[in-house]
Amino acid sequence: MTHQFSTLTAAQKKDLNETALRIISPGKGILAADESVGSMAKRLAQVGVENTEENRRKYRQILFSADDRINLCIGGVIFFHETLYQHSDNGVPFVKMIKDKGILVGVKVDKGVVPLPGTCGESTTQGLDGLSERCAQYKKDGAVFAKWRCVLKISDTNPSNLAITENANVLARYSSICQQHGIVPIIEPEILPDGDHDLKRCQYVTEKVLTAVYKAMSDHHVYLEGSLLKPNMVTPGHSCSNKYTPEEVAMATVTALRRTVPPAVAGVAFLSGGQSEEEASIHLNAINNCPLVKPWMLSFSFGRALQASALRAWRGHKENENVATEQFIKRAEVNGLACQGKYTGGDNSGQAGQHVYGSCHAY
Ligand code: 13P
Repeated sequence: MTHQFSTLTAAQKKDLNETALRIISPGKGILAADESVGSMAKRLAQVGVENTEENRRKYRQILFSADDRINLCIGGVIFFHETLYQHSDNGVPFVKMIKDKGILVGVKVDKGVVPLPGTCGESTTQGLDGLSERCAQYKKDGAVFAKWRCVLKISDTNPSNLAITENANVLARYSSICQQHGIVPIIEPEILPDGDHDLKRCQYVTEKVLTAVYKAMSDHHVYLEGSLLKPNMVTPGHSCSNKYTPEEVAMATVTALRRTVPPAVAGVAFLSGGQSEEEASIHLNAINNCPLVKPWMLSFSFGRALQASALRAWRGHKENENVATEQFIKRAEVNGLACQGKYTGGDNSGQAGQHVYGSCHAY
């Protein structure tokens, strides 16, 4: 019989739970600004900007210099290692700029996706070696939560049982290590939207993956109240010919979560997964209006769906910086409403309706 020897004290658990709840308190979500150097290369190339450390710093400064309006709709920012130690033009550490707004600092701690030999193109995520030491250091440097992303694919044969169990296990091991250091783990088992599968197939796979994830969390004694889930929304594959309404997407998403995610989990913050900014907001709004009992906050942890318009507005030009910051604030405010089911907008004009989809997206 399994046995749990106590590892976290009552005070540590309270601290983890309070941090997790603060990150996605009502009306608030997460800015995922943790693109690796390689992912930033792709983002910056789209707008003709060279991928240098200085350009990455300038771009992040546009996001982090948003004024107090974002304090109401952003509860946490996920940094990449490099960004955690960068400063504004005036020499203010980015971490301080974020903390001074009352926003919590998180950091991506995985070391990227690697192939799982013997599968049909599937992967696991590496980075457990040295993770304990990295968490201890990041905690000292101001981070109170972390992110680890695993990737699963849908095809006629994928995801395999191996990919499901391996990725669930590595997410649980990561979560356990984070919690030992007082860091709230964000658990991200992203199922990619590549393929022509329909909504039902995505729902089925999402249920199987999340079931395995929470079995592994139990096996590893992860304290669920001190953790957040970052799942994909349940959507049809990008090449699927059927169209679904936001209400159908919402019903499939909430049904999948209700069947698999324990109510003890502190909260859920969806990734945007290449949806357009507007589509992601409309889906999030519909999810929050879905007429099923939802025991968790259902919020956002968007990367592309918070940044696409800002990036296009900037294009590397100093004179565009303020407009770019305004674009980011606008998306943050829209999603702050959507995570409460209060977004009535519909901004399909211009940039916000444009897809930001890239096949087999790597973060
Ligand atoms: P997207 O919202 O762009 O999918 O990214 C979120 C994220 O952090 C992926 O790890």
